[in-house]
Amino acid sequence: MLDIKNLFISFKTPEGVVKAVNDVSFCIKKNESLAIVGESGSGKTQLAFSILGLLDKNADVIGQINYQQNNLLNLSEPELNKIRSKKISIIFQDPMTSLNPYMKIKKQLNEILINHNGMTNEQATKESLRILDAVKIQDPVKTINSYPHELSGGMRQRVMIGMSILCKPEIIIADEPTTSLDVTVQSQIMDLFNEIKREFNSSIILITHNMGIVKDTCDKLMVMYGGKIMELGKTNKIFDNSLHPYTKGLLETVPKLNENYKKLKTIKGNPINMIDPPTGCIFKTRCPNPTHDCNNGKTTNLLIEKETNHWVDQCCVNCN
Ligand SMILES: Nc1ncnc2c1ncn2[C@@H]1O[C@H](COP(=O)(O)OP(=O)(O)OP(=O)(O)O)[C@@H](O)[C@H]1O
Ligand SMILES: [Mg+2]
Repeated sequence: MLDIKNLFISFKTPEGVVKAVNDVSFCIKKNESLAIVGESGSGKTQLAFSILGLLDKNADVIGQINYQQNNLLNLSEPELNKIRSKKISIIFQDPMTSLNPYMKIKKQLNEILINHNGMTNEQATKESLRILDAVKIQDPVKTINSYPHELSGGMRQRVMIGMSILCKPEIIIADEPTTSLDVTVQSQIMDLFNEIKREFNSSIILITHNMGIVKDTCDKLMVMYGGKIMELGKTNKIFDNSLHPYTKGLLETVPKLNENYKKLKTIKGNPINMIDPPTGCIFKTRCPNPTHDCNNGKTTNLLIEKETNHWVDQCCVNCN
């Protein structure tokens, strides 16, 4: 469905070049869901933005993002516009950044259907109401006639999800779609994604900080650190047997029911400087057990297939 090969994204800034995504390769199949986790600044959002040509102007991007025999990186704006919403859609972290505060929900939803699917306004309204019902909005008629600020955070997020599935896209990218919501609504939204996947056969890329919501939601898991993939494989395999010390650390940060809140673990150290990353293994400053070679910068980060379809960084797997 989507095949990303050797993707590099960097940003020119007055302070230097920010190396946000460094040699990332992965693919996602039809009807498969992939979670991308990693701490703040690890490159998750920029990776998602690059797929739909949404990177800032100061970005340089090289590599391949192959979708339906095209490298999306070579497409023009009008060509990309045909793919956005209709084939690949994106849900942003904060719905208020993508919902127009001055426009009623009806107009915002209908415009997508009119522009991409050539529907009449009447047809579009009917379909918009159907979709709001599908995303479990309790009163679709009232909601469609509301402005975004009249809705609760959870409802706005459902509207955003509805918007993203209006054209039944093949791929839905959701960038932290539940971060600002309370835990009950979070789990309802994640259930909704699974229903959408079943009903529309869509592939889903879910970006999150939260390992807790990944386990029951996503088929595959990709762990990023410093713009690189550290571990990639089936979610249940990684939860049962993580091969990377960073993944292990992330799993330990998931609160358990029988644990005292005070005992929540963190991963020691600070994120790396993306302008001047460490030489050799980028994880060595956070690694609980770095070897002599990591510290001397003699090792580099490359993925190896340690078990079938379970990939891990060749350097870090030795420090696990
Ligand atoms: N326009 C830009 N110019 C310079 N640096 C940028 C630009 N956009 C993003 N970056 C940098 O790229 C790196 C990766 O950012 P990205 O937004 O992908 O992080 P993230 O993993 O999504 O983090 P979070 O979990 O906080 O959303 C960060 O160091 C960020 O500061
Ligand atoms: Mg982000």
